[in-house]
Amino acid sequence: MNLFKSIWFFLGKYQTPKIRVLHVLILVLVITQIIISNWMVGTQSSTIPSISGEYIFTWMHILIGFSLFFLSFALIWTCLKEKGVKHFYPYLWGDVKQIKSDINQLIEFKLPDSTPAGLAATVQGLGLGALSIVIISGLTWFFLWILGASFAYDARSIHKSLTILIEIYIYGHGGLGLIHFVIWYKKAKK
Ligand code: HEM
Ligand code: HEM
Repeated sequence: MNLFKSIWFFLGKYQTPKIRVLHVLILVLVITQIIISNWMVGTQSSTIPSISGEYIFTWMHILIGFSLFFLSFALIWTCLKEKGVKHFYPYLWGDVKQIKSDINQLIEFKLPDSTPAGLAATVQGLGLGALSIVIISGLTWFFLWILGASFAYDARSIHKSLTILIEIYIYGHGGLGLIHFVIWYKKAKK
């Protein structure tokens, strides 16, 4: 089995078919957004640049950004419908039992598996929040800029700063996801 097939199979052990497709699309597109943002030319001007040439990456970022808006809405909706709000935000009901037990396992250098209302699910809930914040700030910047608002450029800086949230999430959640994958892959190969 090649690596991508194995990752796809591994995700299927945790996720329903609909969540798996949305999750893979979103993770690829978010990483693409971060990478292409390095080649975007700052749009300080209040006039809208052409789609071609210098601003090609900016327009790619905007188009992917709009796609992410719809995909993320679908992911959040599906996750909450399939697993329930309590799965991702148990602390809102004062339920921190599983989170505490997972943290204790981490302190003992054991890797807790993902359980409902546990640490992994709680972090995923916060990740959905981070994703929403970054996307809403990007859209806010875009519409202010299209409308020619004088403070549009500040909205751009705010959007840029907020992307740190999703980057931290990818390192934490993505990193632990990869560790789980490697452990499973080694066992599966035996
Ligand atoms: C998770 C999704 C997103 C990520 C990770 C992301 C990341 C970034 C980053 C890192 C920058 C700063 C680029 C720089 O100057 O160094 C940026 C700028 C920008 N983002 Fe996003 N963004 C996302 C979603 C969106 C969305 C939904 C929109 C709106 C359609 C958007 C529109 C923009 C625009 C227009 C800029 C400024 C472009 C420029 O002035 O050159 N982004 N984004
Ligand atoms: C922006 C990027 C990402 C977002 C928004 C995101 C979001 C989520 C969400 C909401 C879930 C829960 C789905 C469910 O309950 O069925 C999840 C599960 C999972 N994610 Fe991500 N994820 C991202 C990136 C990654 C990356 C880079 C990896 C690394 C391989 C990864 C690995 C996993 C795994 C293994 C699960 C299943 C674990 C479980 O159900 O507890 N994710 N992700």
